[in-house]
Amino acid sequence: MRILLFGSSGQVGWELRRTLAPLGHVVPVDRATADLADKDALRRVVRTTEPALIVNAAAYTAVDRAESEPEVARAVNGVAPGILAEEARRLGAALVHFSTDFVFDGKKADPYTEDDAPAPLNVYGASKLEGEQAIQAVGGAYVILRTSWVYGMRGHNFLLTVCRLARERPTLRIVDDQTGAPTWSRMIAEATALVVAGAPQTSGAPAFGKETNGLYHLSAGGATTWFGFAREILGAAAALGLPTVPALDPIKTDEYPLPARRPANCLLANDKLRRTFGLALPSWAESLRMCVEEGAR
Ligand SMILES: NC(=O)c1ccc[n+]([C@@H]2O[C@H](COP(=O)([O-])OP(=O)(O)OC[C@H]3O[C@@H](n4cnc5c(N)ncnc54)[C@H](OP(=O)(O)O)[C@@H]3O)[C@@H](O)[C@H]2O)c1
Repeated sequence: MRILLFGSSGQVGWELRRTLAPLGHVVPVDRATADLADKDALRRVVRTTEPALIVNAAAYTAVDRAESEPEVARAVNGVAPGILAEEARRLGAALVHFSTDFVFDGKKADPYTEDDAPAPLNVYGASKLEGEQAIQAVGGAYVILRTSWVYGMRGHNFLLTVCRLARERPTLRIVDDQTGAPTWSRMIAEATALVVAGAPQTSGAPAFGKETNGLYHLSAGGATTWFGFAREILGAAAALGLPTVPALDPIKTDEYPLPARRPANCLLANDKLRRTFGLALPSWAESLRMCVEEGAR
């Protein structure tokens, strides 16, 4: 099976390049090969590669910058996924796409299910929602995996930011009134490969059929705040090679103003993924330990 992987240099894409490898021949695509904002380039790369599976881990993920660049965010996150869905359908290929907890407004008290109505608070969330809807409108064989608070040992993420700041500052002020589940990029990629491997194949392509086509939440188990996440990271300071452990100061969201509003509750309910594919990610704290152990080697 030929797998065309967009966003292969990103946090999740980097891991997918490895976890998808046993399932077929992975053709990694980065921005230099095809800019997602360039519709013709996108169509061209799909048509020349003729994949059985397209995996789109590319996205405009600069949440705050998106507020001042809504057109670019929309082109990459809102329009490009629909083009990939069209091209996949044309080829009889399947599409796996990633989305975000930021499609919700965070006002719900409990974890969000796939049936809850999205109501994004910021441009990034709105653009990602538009991408989901574009894929759903095309139909075909697709799976959309909404994840949250992605981190790992590569790329731009909260874990690496805390490590950098811990070397620079005696005290870190961290938001303690947004709740979510930090999710290791490796776990997302592992689960994605299992979702693909579990799908029956038709003409060499994964056939996400009536029972499996659709939208799923895929995040780590448990819940914490950014402050709780930072505390756990600094608890592993020695393994992370941090020479000193800064003090932590919990603050409210409005004490740290940013261009984009964030949902207070980012928790995703993962029951549908478990019911359909028999998959459940470990708790965020357990995953963090595994991630740190690997980085410490
Ligand atoms: N990060 C999070 O906390 C988070 C949370 C929830 C959901 N998600 C979703 O999870 C998925 C993976 O996110 P991630 O954290 O792995 O993202 P990431 O590390 O920011 O990587 C994004 C990838 O997309 C590529 N990209 C961006 N703009 C592009 C363009 N115009 N054309 C082609 N490629 C482009 C980037 O290439 P360059 O390296 O060249 O920029 C990079 O390879 C995304 O769908 C994201 O929306 C992420």
